[in-house]
Amino acid sequence: ESTFAMLKPDVASDTHTVDEIKQRIAEAGLSIERERVCRLSRRRCGKFYAEHRTRPFYPALLGFMSSGPVVMLELSGESAIGAWRSLIGPTSTETARKEAPRSLRAMYGSDNTRNAAHGSDSPASAAREIRLMFQK
Ligand code: PPS
Repeated sequence: ESTFAMLKPDVASDTHTVDEIKQRIAEAGLSIERERVCRLSRRRCGKFYAEHRTRPFYPALLGFMSSGPVVMLELSGESAIGAWRSLIGPTSTETARKEAPRSLRAMYGSDNTRNAAHGSDSPASAAREIRLMFQK
């Protein structure tokens, strides 16, 4: 199975943290098939997060996601979608620290927006996100 992973601007510029996260990816039995570092435009973030466009946090989410470089990864492995989602932990840092203290969001996140990492939530969104973010 393949999934789309993204390290967000709060961690993507910190090479030490990125290396630690890559180590955790390997320990989870996942392989990095493709990697791309770039700064996303607001427009591209808008497409990526289209499903959240009516949510109150949407403008802040776009502002944050376009504020600095991100590391985009295509991961593969057994049950990659669930394995990566479980490695990153719950959206909220507070919940993550209580319920999954070893998760990436517990260790590196700050709040619901600055939460270190994204992971696709289904095979359909993984396919869409990989296509959208790795297209030329
Ligand atoms: S929800 O509330 O169930 O739709 O949350 P989720 O599916 O986990 O995804 C929400 C994405 O938007 C980001 N975000 C926030 N979520 C909730 N509340 C606030 N205030 C908020 N601000 C930003 C959140 O980090 C999720 O981003 P991704 O990249 O999809 O993990």
